[in-house]
Amino acid sequence: MTPKAPASSNGNPSDPCVIVIFGASGDLTARKLIPALYEQDRQQRLAPGTSIVGVARTEMSDDTFREKMHASAKEHAAAFDQAGWDRFANRLFYHAADAAAAESMEGLSAKIAELGGNAGILRQGGMPNILFYLSVSPDLYEPIIENIGAGGLVSEGHRWCSLNAEATPWQRIIVEKPFGNDLASAVSLNRALGRVFEEEETYRIDHYLGKELVQNIAVMRFANTIFEPIWNRDVVEHVQVTAAETVGVGSRAANFYDRAGALRDMVQSHLLQVMCMVAMEPPSVFDADAIMREKIKLLGSCVVASDAEAPSACVMGRYGRGKGPQDRAYIEEDGVDPKRNTDTYAAVRLEIDNWRWSGVPFYLRSGKKLAVKQTEIVVQFRRPPVQIFKMFDGSLADRPANRLIINIAPREGISLRLEGKVPGMGMKLDYADLQLDYLDRFGGEQVEAYGPLIVDAIRGDRTLYKHKEEVELGWKICEPFIKNPLIRSSIHTYEPGSWGPDAAERLFGGVGRWHSPPPGFVRKTVG
Ligand code: BG6
Repeated sequence: MTPKAPASSNGNPSDPCVIVIFGASGDLTARKLIPALYEQDRQQRLAPGTSIVGVARTEMSDDTFREKMHASAKEHAAAFDQAGWDRFANRLFYHAADAAAAESMEGLSAKIAELGGNAGILRQGGMPNILFYLSVSPDLYEPIIENIGAGGLVSEGHRWCSLNAEATPWQRIIVEKPFGNDLASAVSLNRALGRVFEEEETYRIDHYLGKELVQNIAVMRFANTIFEPIWNRDVVEHVQVTAAETVGVGSRAANFYDRAGALRDMVQSHLLQVMCMVAMEPPSVFDADAIMREKIKLLGSCVVASDAEAPSACVMGRYGRGKGPQDRAYIEEDGVDPKRNTDTYAAVRLEIDNWRWSGVPFYLRSGKKLAVKQTEIVVQFRRPPVQIFKMFDGSLADRPANRLIINIAPREGISLRLEGKVPGMGMKLDYADLQLDYLDRFGGEQVEAYGPLIVDAIRGDRTLYKHKEEVELGWKICEPFIKNPLIRSSIHTYEPGSWGPDAAERLFGGVGRWHSPPPGFVRKTVG
């Protein structure tokens, strides 16, 4: 008998299934996926009978795999308890196979059936529900997808036509980023997926969409009435989206980063998604189809820069050598080819040519080895049309006007900057911040963003995933910058621990500037 499914995060049942992780010996599996699944299990969001099988080429026993994952869950999970781990470890298995080789699918299929049988979760046709997770090097995506199809592991198409769809197993796939390396490769990958999986069963993951505050943007905008009337070109002067990291690229340079760079790695994916949540029109309901439609519309309204325009709307940088003897410059990291001019910092100015946002620049930036770890959105409002207090306070003109900061990480919250009268004689003005700290207000354990997203995929909820068109439009918007030889050849070197190249200020053309707290700044609260 199929075990009863527990309620998931929002009360919907999560089906029992076999989760197949391709790339089980990789960094992402150890640092993110297993700790995230363990956290979900601790919160009883994985149905009884759900099993996880790691697949990689290295020979390894289940026990060795469990030991390795134990160490990383201890290090990376938000909270760890041994009894909880022991329960979770019973769900973990390992299967050695080269998934890029077609002949390996037979063994994998037998393994999945065996795990499903042992857990009592087989459905019609003798197979359990299967969630595939592609966490391998991107050049293996297409061969593995093809092999899954050719190996007969996907019967989803039959399920749609089945009279008893509830009893037939589903098969879904989560695809990690990078989703392609440019538009052409993303289109090719989408086609490869489409040949094997229905679009409804394809989950293009962007872990930023799993972050609490990114989801909260929608709640803030659409569950309150006070923001939408001012959320437009009449009141907003510009919007900034920043994802700053203090860490460098390190050992990722050789395998991945040097061929990607910050624009591909962060802007094309995470930052465009954050921008969508800030700028899209209200969906009719908060569900996957309605939200995807709005995001696609928004990205479709983004102006694609011409070759001539792109250099004035993008600045790239790479970090130089730091003060410590170990503090290598990016070009000294192992596996870096300096001639590639790979960006560890990128800032772009985008325009959204629609009724709401025409003329409001959106500035997106991300970089490694910057001054602070901070992911935030700044909505900068316009100044009042007339400065009636200027004779009392000359500094008013130099201060940023009202602004709303939505802090996504590390401390979740929002802060609204207002001008106030300083108490006492005379008319002196100063700013004051209204602050809402989500942890203080709502409490709760901060969990790894991957966990709830994987559970959503098990529940068949694509709300926080990306449609194929979003990915392709993202590449269309970013390619003119990524492929522009002038931008790359004029890449700037910046000091580690700084806020990146000074040249990035020029994107504002003298109007406004980046919101950049001083180096060493530790955010104890928002603002
Ligand atoms: C990943 C990028 O998608 O996001 C990494 O590949 C980056 O380069 C990471 O470090 C940042 O994620 P977060 O959640 O720490 O902001």
